[in-house]
Amino acid sequence: MDAAAPDRITIFDTTLRDGEQAPGFSLRHEAKLRFARTLDELGVDVIEAGFPIASEDDFAAVRDVAREVRRPAIAALARSVPKDIDRAGEALDGAARPRMHVFIATSDLHLSRKLGMTREQALEAAVIGVERARRFADDIEFSAEDATRSDPDFLSEMVAAVVRAGATTVNLPDTVGYSVPEEIRAMFRAVRQRLPEGRPVILSAHCHNDLGLAVANSLAAIEGGARQIECTVNGIGERAGNASLEEFAMALRTRPDRLPFTTGVQTLVLYAASQLLTELTGEAVQANKAIVGRNAFAHEAGIHQDGLLKDRRTYEIMRAEDVGRPSATLVLGKHSGRHALKARCEALKITLSRLELDELYRAMIGRAEIRKVVEDCDLLELVEEMRRPGAHPAPAPASPSPAPSRRSRWESPVTIEEPGYGFGV
Ligand code: KIV
Ligand code: ZN
Repeated sequence: MDAAAPDRITIFDTTLRDGEQAPGFSLRHEAKLRFARTLDELGVDVIEAGFPIASEDDFAAVRDVAREVRRPAIAALARSVPKDIDRAGEALDGAARPRMHVFIATSDLHLSRKLGMTREQALEAAVIGVERARRFADDIEFSAEDATRSDPDFLSEMVAAVVRAGATTVNLPDTVGYSVPEEIRAMFRAVRQRLPEGRPVILSAHCHNDLGLAVANSLAAIEGGARQIECTVNGIGERAGNASLEEFAMALRTRPDRLPFTTGVQTLVLYAASQLLTELTGEAVQANKAIVGRNAFAHEAGIHQDGLLKDRRTYEIMRAEDVGRPSATLVLGKHSGRHALKARCEALKITLSRLELDELYRAMIGRAEIRKVVEDCDLLELVEEMRRPGAHPAPAPASPSPAPSRRSRWESPVTIEEPGYGFGV
């Protein structure tokens, strides 16, 4: 590989496993298959389609995705116990690129309180699990659950043992979203330094979002040497979710100066994937969610709208079109300015005189105080009312900006306020 080429990060999508596991997000296997086709279009490298031992339907989902979706690797999750591994192997039968994903916890807390196992027993079970998984595939991922709260020496010992047993990817999850970036970067560096020689292995990060740090931690992990990131569309997943695929991919794309890594993600498909997931799960994303939320590219404040109309870069670091959304929207609300109103009217093929613009602006602010957002249909109605013969001018809205004083609608000298400024910032 070209020494100067940025490293390629493998995107392991777990929307259909960790994401689907969250309350309210479960998907039937037909829906999983439909979403897997979109993940394929999105360009992810690995699709974790489910946890086959969990239910007949999850088994069917993994089997159907494995049979139909041929480009990405298809992963199936299994605890490090024979019945899980055999069931996962069976579901992946027929996959073009099967990946067996075996996990066991490595923190003392999980070992003693959850599994009732010693470290030695866990080590032995992990090695036996990886060896058994190799009956079904060459591509073996091992996850050390709760890695970030595990003893560093034991974690490195575990990683070395599973790599010798045949694991080709080793995932170090921040299972409870407890880590901070500096810590996770150091963990990956330390584990990487202690990998057994002569066995190529990819280190992977799987960060939960309990402290809202999942994407920041994933970025820190790649600085520490991880080359696979596990993530989900819309950031769905257990509790506060997993690292959001769209946020991670767009961070790399938007800041190559600080993050010299690439992915195979086709960013133009991001919005469609997010919308499809919303439709399939019936769970909306929050309005201010980065990249895919309703407001992620919407601007209402007058100063922002004015800047944007002059040069988009004033208030946008990404283009909505690059993630497959319609271009940025200037939302007409009570914080909007005249520039945005004029631009919206022009888009609707309404030509306004300066006086009409002023009149319509007042009416629009009045409507926004009642309705929050003024839609195109409201605007058309306001223009019609304004132009109706004998119509009275709209009363000035209660506003910190003094309204221009005038006696008659068309005669008095009208002061147009500083264009583009409503009373928002
Ligand atoms: O969060 C976690 O530790 C997991 C593993 C099963 C990979 O989801
Ligand atoms: Zn998880």
